[in-house]
Amino acid sequence: MSNPRNSRRYLSNDSDVEDSDEIEPLSVSFQRPLFRNRKYSLDLPGIVTSKLTQEQPLKCGVGSKLVVVMTGLPARGKSYIVKKLKRYLSWLQYDTKIFNVGNLRRNTAQLIKNGSHSHSFFDPANKSAKKVREQLAMDCLDELIDWLNKGGRIGIHDATNSTVERRRKILERCQRETTFKVLFIESICNDNEVLEKNMRLKLSGPDYRKMDPEKALADFRKRVSNYEKVYETISEEEEKADMQYCKLINVGKKIIAHNIQGYLSGQCIFYLMNFNLSDRQIWLSRHGESTDNAIGKIGGDSPLSEKGRKFGECLSRFIFKQKVLFRQKQMDEYRSASTSSLPTSVPQVKNFLVWTSMLKRTIETVENFDQREFDIMHIRFLNEIYAGLCEEMSHSEIEIKYPEEYSERRKNKLYYRYPGMGGESYLDVIHRINPLIVELERMTDNILIVTHQVVLRILLAYFLDVEKEKVPNMEVPLHTIYCLQPKAYDTELKRWKYDEEKDDFFPVE
Ligand code: F6P
Repeated sequence: MSNPRNSRRYLSNDSDVEDSDEIEPLSVSFQRPLFRNRKYSLDLPGIVTSKLTQEQPLKCGVGSKLVVVMTGLPARGKSYIVKKLKRYLSWLQYDTKIFNVGNLRRNTAQLIKNGSHSHSFFDPANKSAKKVREQLAMDCLDELIDWLNKGGRIGIHDATNSTVERRRKILERCQRETTFKVLFIESICNDNEVLEKNMRLKLSGPDYRKMDPEKALADFRKRVSNYEKVYETISEEEEKADMQYCKLINVGKKIIAHNIQGYLSGQCIFYLMNFNLSDRQIWLSRHGESTDNAIGKIGGDSPLSEKGRKFGECLSRFIFKQKVLFRQKQMDEYRSASTSSLPTSVPQVKNFLVWTSMLKRTIETVENFDQREFDIMHIRFLNEIYAGLCEEMSHSEIEIKYPEEYSERRKNKLYYRYPGMGGESYLDVIHRINPLIVELERMTDNILIVTHQVVLRILLAYFLDVEKEKVPNMEVPLHTIYCLQPKAYDTELKRWKYDEEKDDFFPVE
């Protein structure tokens, strides 16, 4: 039995890293404060560690808290943006929470006379309602601040925050908390097609779903025009006061960013620059069974088994069929929509991409795909977690040879990093595939990704907003394929399983 790590433990959790270096003693001639007010902010949970961050996490800028404040008229997609951002940041392992003023209003609705969702409640001339609305916004901010002070990392204030006065109050309140950074995100939209869709989406929301749709739509339009009477876009005055902000215009087609400080804000903006609302499919699968899978060995670069090859052949037929079906559905929808009032244009034929890792078992799985129908790429980021010294061992071999490693991994599988050169943790893999997530958000094409167990869990976790504790143990068997379709507020998931005897795929409930 050997311990491959000697005295060091390699859990990638900040608080679990042991380091034997002494803190440098202060000399009389060169005295420097131990904790300077540093400006750097590279901070990736489980990936970046620093002595300073462990001892004084907030003073040195690393680990500071972020308040994201939404701004914009109703129906500008704020809640859509907020949900996506929250899902992305949580997936990157930042503790993130949305504080929605509308929900607070609905929860306190019984305190408000004359109903809190009718358009008159949003009339700026309605003094008493205005007071209640301002109070609700600040109460919601207090809840957010309280949550951050109790350990949360990124709080998102989801409201219209549509006047300079409101934003000033929010900023002042946040500035009382010295370690908070504030990022305003204003969503502006003047694309009528998107606005019309957003308005209609509101009808199934909590304020309107029990109302007659025509009446609901008319009321909501009046609510929007009430807001328009007083709406102030983020102004030059606010810019002069050094406000950190980003304006997203027409679903990220145009972006204006000002005074962006720090890694986290930069990440949020880069992410938001890259999404789109197009209707598309993202297919995910593990490779076909490999010869190492068949004997229970992890990692390595073995070829497909006979079973795995059959799966690959059937996969190419099945995905080709799905490509054709998608086009048929797209055209059917176009034909029926063009008779209704919504403006539409003939949908373009989508490209279909196929991405695999650079390991034999995924490349062989797509061997039968027709290059004229599919754009095939092999990407190293999609490789399986690298198990370092444990590569090509079975789990029981690891348990016998490295019992401490085996039990450390069982204790904290998400943060655990395999020993040896290049050994990775789940968190390392998350950050390795982060650029691909942004690319998936950016693209409008359909795609099939053929990858490995860990990468598949992590991709599904992103799209389905899976809690971090569950990610490393999600069931993702071989020979099962997943189809994800991004929708307005979540992602639709369908699954198919390969039946070897019938040599075909069947839907799984
Ligand atoms: O066994 C197949 C495999 O893809 C291995 O290469 C990899 O180490 C393992 O699955 C990851 O699964 P888990 O994180 O549950 O060990």
